[in-house]
Parts: sequence; structure tokens; C-alpha cells
Amino acid sequence: MSEPTIFTSDDLRSYLKSTVSERRYLHSLGVAETTAKVLDHFKCTDYTRRWNGFDAPTFCGLAHDIAREMSDASLIEFCKKNNIYLSKEDIVAPVLAHGIVSADIAVSLAGRFPMSWYKAIAVHTTGNAGMDDLALALFIADYIEPTRKFMTDQRRAFYLGSSGISQCAYRVLCDMIDHWRQTGFHDASSGSVAMKEFLERSAGCRYE
Ligand SMILES: [Fe+2]
Ligand SMILES: [Fe+2]
Repeated sequence: MSEPTIFTSDDLRSYLKSTVSERRYLHSLGVAETTAKVLDHFKCTDYTRRWNGFDAPTFCGLAHDIAREMSDASLIEFCKKNNIYLSKEDIVAPVLAHGIVSADIAVSLAGRFPMSWYKAIAVHTTGNAGMDDLALALFIADYIEPTRKFMTDQRRAFYLGSSGISQCAYRVLCDMIDHWRQTGFHDASSGSVAMKEFLERSAGCRYE
């Protein structure tokens, strides 16, 4: 593994600014701030808060889309080179792999940060079963952060008015799945189906 080159959140912010578009940069700042707000709003404690001077929501929010603007070919090449498993779905729609590639790039930049942070970044695109509070908050924040044009304040209030973070993530997930279907972008991925079933089974979530 290469030596870390990023030691603070400011370093990560500068790296991001020089790597992605302005729009993606502002989105990532929004996700970092909103992840912290969501964790606070639902009084979550089930996550590793700090590592090596970094705080979890800031690090994961800033890092989650580092690879989002890579081409399909570059994502596939990166995965092959770094022994990252690609599912059939990832091969059909390589953009789905940008979560795990972002997590891997973040490791090469900052060193081996907590595995729970890695997982949160890796699964933010589609979700998965067994997400902890940090992963759920990142997933929610990615959808509702302030620069999202399709999101209304009324809709944000609906999500944040949920009985808990699991129910909030469940509402976001169901709406995302509906949105993908309506726009014909893609059907629910296996990760999203696994997340939905997990939240229904473990937290009794229902769409209401
Ligand atoms: Fe993303
Ligand atoms: Fe994002």
C-alpha cells in the first residue's frame, strides 16, 4: 500500500476540489454536513466517530464520490487492477462500482481507516443489508443534501420526521427504487433489495 498523502479533512477537501467538478465538490460538502446532521437528528451512537484526527461524517461525506466522475472503462480497469470483485450488475452498469472504488482510493490517500467507514462509502450507491448508523446516515444524506435539485424542503421534512434512522433510510430507499423504475435508469439492484428486506426484518420498517 502506498504511503498516505492526506492527513486532515482540509487535505481531503483540497484533493477533492482538484479532482472532481465544482458541482460534485459542492454535493460532497453537502453530504458531509448532512450526514453529521442526520446522525445528530436521530441521536445515533452506533458508529466509530473518530480516527486519526478525522471525524466519520466529514471523512465519508467528502470521500463517498471521489470516483463518481471516472468513466465506466476506468472504473472497471481500477477494479481489475486492485482485485475488487465486480458483480454482474456492476459489469452492466459500472457506475454502481463508484462507491467501492471511492472507498479504495480513500484508503490509498489516507491509510487504513475503520472498516465501518469503508463499508459506508462502498455501499452508499445502492445500499445493502446490515448497514450501521453511519452507513444509513450517508445513504440518506446523499439523497437529501441541500444541492439536490429534485428534493423539496417538504420532502426533506417527511424523511427527517421518521421515527428513527432505519425508517428514514427505508423511506429514501423506497423512493429511490421508484425513481429508478420510473426513469427507466435501472431496476432495483440486489444491494437495494437486500437493504429493503433487512430493514423490514430487523427494524420492522414499512412504507408509511
Ligand atoms: Fe455516489
Ligand atoms: Fe453522492
